[in-house]
Amino acid sequence: MITRRPFIGGNWKMNTDRAAASGLIRGVVDGLVGLQGVDVAVFPPFPYLLTVGAILRERGSAVRLGAQDAYFEGDGAFTGEVSLAMLRDCGVSVVLTGHSERRHVLGESETIVHSKTKAVLAAGMECILCVGERLDEREEGRTDMVNEEQVRLGLREVPPEQVDRLTIAYEPVWAIGTGRTASPADAQDAHLKIRKVLADLYGREVAARIRIMYGGSVKGTNARELFVQQDVDGGLIGGASLKASEFVTIVRAAAQVGMHEARF
Ligand code: PGA
Repeated sequence: MITRRPFIGGNWKMNTDRAAASGLIRGVVDGLVGLQGVDVAVFPPFPYLLTVGAILRERGSAVRLGAQDAYFEGDGAFTGEVSLAMLRDCGVSVVLTGHSERRHVLGESETIVHSKTKAVLAAGMECILCVGERLDEREEGRTDMVNEEQVRLGLREVPPEQVDRLTIAYEPVWAIGTGRTASPADAQDAHLKIRKVLADLYGREVAARIRIMYGGSVKGTNARELFVQQDVDGGLIGGASLKASEFVTIVRAAAQVGMHEARF
């Protein structure tokens, strides 16, 4: 039997300062003491990675340190960019690629998202590839097409032996930071379609193992109804990850729902 453990990520985006980042991670670690059955990662801004990582180590926490972005080249003349080797050196083990703010605010192309995704997985790190449709695309009935295209392009040339380090985050762009959430049924529908694309790429068994998290205005009050959906294996949390107690409530909801059994 194939089971998927829930996975919750806290994407702090361009928020906090050093003191706030330290306070936030201490609150998260304290709130999660003794909790099992769920994987948790936080994604602080680059300048605070070492500070947050040191607190996680000092507390012996299982919370993983993540990066919101990374460049796909090795060391060299790439002003302003941060390499995977640097991130690993700072204790990072999981990296986001293709977040909608990178795609739509910073103008990252599919080609760049693909290069980053490929590089993260090839480097032996974990990758959360984010996909999702804009409001206009949803209104034109293109949700599934957009998700399929972003998954296929993001994973081009990624060999099957590397996808055990892959998580997909389905984040409808119109639901991010807006207070609007996809209905649990809509989220489930999108996740199932994404899993079918993964099955087409890697076979049903591999696809059944890949976690697909939901992102977009997840809060303590709506987490459970999303996470109980068969193919919603946790969430990527933005705004609600900036308050330790709210984030802890969401992680607890995922732990309570527990594993999803893969159905074929
Ligand atoms: P949100 O952000 O929870 O603030 O909507 C989610 C994300 O961008 O990952």
